[in-house]
Amino acid sequence: MSVLGVGVDIVFLPDFAKAMKKQEFMKRVFSAKEIRFCKSKAFPLQHFAARFAAKEATFKAIEKPVSYLQVEIRTSASGKPSIAFLPQKQARHPACQISMAHVKDYALAFVICTKQ
Ligand SMILES: CC(C)(COP(=O)(O)OP(=O)(O)OC[C@H]1O[C@@H](n2cnc3c(N)ncnc32)[C@H](O)[C@@H]1OP(=O)(O)O)[C@@H](O)C(=O)NCCC(=O)NCCS
Repeated sequence: MSVLGVGVDIVFLPDFAKAMKKQEFMKRVFSAKEIRFCKSKAFPLQHFAARFAAKEATFKAIEKPVSYLQVEIRTSASGKPSIAFLPQKQARHPACQISMAHVKDYALAFVICTKQ
């Protein structure tokens, strides 16, 4: 198993909030599952921003171009995030590990992907 790539991204929440005011931006970037998860939180914007950073970090880590909606950030019962490439049946997606954090005006994500 060898490392395919790593990616990191940081989001400034005041700028991200402006983009999120456009409904079309939200629909273009986030899946229904992601929207449901973030909206269930007390401060949805920071969770959306972390997931946006996660998708951008994933783009940096993998070699092929994919769209925002092809990269879904999932959350386990313990809160641990993971990355699913959609559609899942498509063969040979890289295996990516992710970590995210958010504080005040910033959200960030780090991704490391390995070849399968
Ligand atoms: C998990 C924990 C470290 C998050 O730290 P925090 O300072 O509260 O918040 P941060 O901004 O740094 O990170 C938040 C992100 O951590 C990630 N996270 C939450 N639970 C996680 C877990 N069990 N494992 C890995 N990542 C986790 C999520 O991506 C979360 O963002 P999201 O809610 O938008 O999905 C903290 O809640 C904690 O110490 N919990 C108790 C111990 C624990 O559950 N440890 C996890 C290993 S078992």
